[in-house]
Amino acid sequence: MSMNERKLLVLNWKSHKTLTEAKTWLATVGPKAALSEYTLVLCPPFPFVEALHKEIENKKYHITLGVQDLSPFPAGAYTGAVSARNLEELDVKYTIVGHSERRKYFHETMQEVANKVSEAIAAGITPIVCVDKEHIEAQANAILESERGKCIVAYEPVGHIGTGEVDDIKDVLTVAEHIREAFGEQAPVLYGGSVDGDTADMFLKSNALHGALVGGASLSEKEVLKMAALMA
Ligand code: PGA
Repeated sequence: MSMNERKLLVLNWKSHKTLTEAKTWLATVGPKAALSEYTLVLCPPFPFVEALHKEIENKKYHITLGVQDLSPFPAGAYTGAVSARNLEELDVKYTIVGHSERRKYFHETMQEVANKVSEAIAAGITPIVCVDKEHIEAQANAILESERGKCIVAYEPVGHIGTGEVDDIKDVLTVAEHIREAFGEQAPVLYGGSVDGDTADMFLKSNALHGALVGGASLSEKEVLKMAALMA
């Protein structure tokens, strides 16, 4: 991905919302999304992917689908896991992998995250690898060298996730440099951690960043329209 491409506003709903709430959100944001200068990447819970995919396709909304996680295994006997093959007909373009909540609550290892990266890339899905400062190098090294350059990397300082306070942009830019040293000079870097309608601009407009990954604020139609510069 070159830096000329549209920047990404990645919307991570985590385990929130019912299907009805998801459809209501899409009916509000979808019709306006084409006017945004950013690519809106919606990452809903798995059970909503098919319904949202159909709606996006039918209404021709400019919303790209992503998922929040992916199985580290191929299709097969792995109960409960969602493989890349399961997503094949659903036009899923991105997957978040290695989110700090996955690492913390589901005990994901660097190698598992690396295996998810491989599964995603083999299926033509772009992995968005989440990292915090202290494991940038270890995570990059766990990923095959040939696949490192195909990753988008999200810098997500745990101390700023869900806290309402974004990290200092200067620190973010310094860490983004470290990320590019580890993943490759061309690696697109996103920032995530308490981004909302008031702070998104600072990250989305930075020349050294390729976009933002948003949790809490992505649940709100109003906040998303504000972040996507579709509303004052
Ligand atoms: P937050 O979450 O925007 O609610 O801080 C970001 C994330 O966890 O990706």
